[in-house]
Amino acid sequence: MKRSIAALAIGATAFAVAAANAHPEHADRLANAQVLDPHTPKEDVTALMKHFTQALGVRCSYCHVGEEGAPLSTYDFASDAKAEKRRAREMMRLTMMINESDMLPGEPFASHTAMDRNRVNCITCHQGNTRPATTLPEDAPDAL
Ligand code: HEC
Ligand code: HEC
Repeated sequence: MKRSIAALAIGATAFAVAAANAHPEHADRLANAQVLDPHTPKEDVTALMKHFTQALGVRCSYCHVGEEGAPLSTYDFASDAKAEKRRAREMMRLTMMINESDMLPGEPFASHTAMDRNRVNCITCHQGNTRPATTLPEDAPDAL
């Protein structure tokens, strides 16, 4: 029994290596994608990350391990060390859930990456802040 599991594991590894070689475009799969499809094209990941920074009014280092001002090539984007990154993942799931809800009016559409097509995205609530406001801004016009 033990032997057959080991053989299965070796077989699976060999298959994975063969599959990776057969599809070289998959060589640059995301290292630690838990919400996104690991094969999400690089330009879609970049656009999404820009959406995150704009929506929250932050820079990459708010969620990712790296020195502010240092080249992005020195960052460890796959690391989950920062709580903000882990929180952002939950937020991606929440945003998806809202867009998938049939309580939301409009044309059904829900995507983790096509933020400009979603009816609700990170900007909807965050408006450039890490903590969405629950009160009106000072300069809001009187409702009545
Ligand atoms: C609000 C938090 C947040 C900000 C700001 C942010 N990211 Fe991310 N980033 C994430 C999360 C969450 C993931 C992982 C998504 C998943 O698990 O599917 C991620 C994943 C990535 C990955 C893929 C890592 C891998 O697993 O291979 C790259 C590259 C990346 N981010 C680059 C950036 C860059 C560049 C910036 C700045 C322009 C940035 N991020 C800003 C939250 C953030
Ligand atoms: C439906 C509204 C809503 C949407 C959509 C939303 N958020 Fe949030 N987000 C919140 C609320 C509310 C909090 C909690 C604020 C607090 O604790 O005061 C929060 C907190 C966060 C935090 C933690 C901030 C902190 O200071 O602890 C991060 C990071 C975050 N959101 C990222 C995102 C990202 C990235 C997206 C888009 C994928 C997103 N959020 C979409 C409502 C939203």
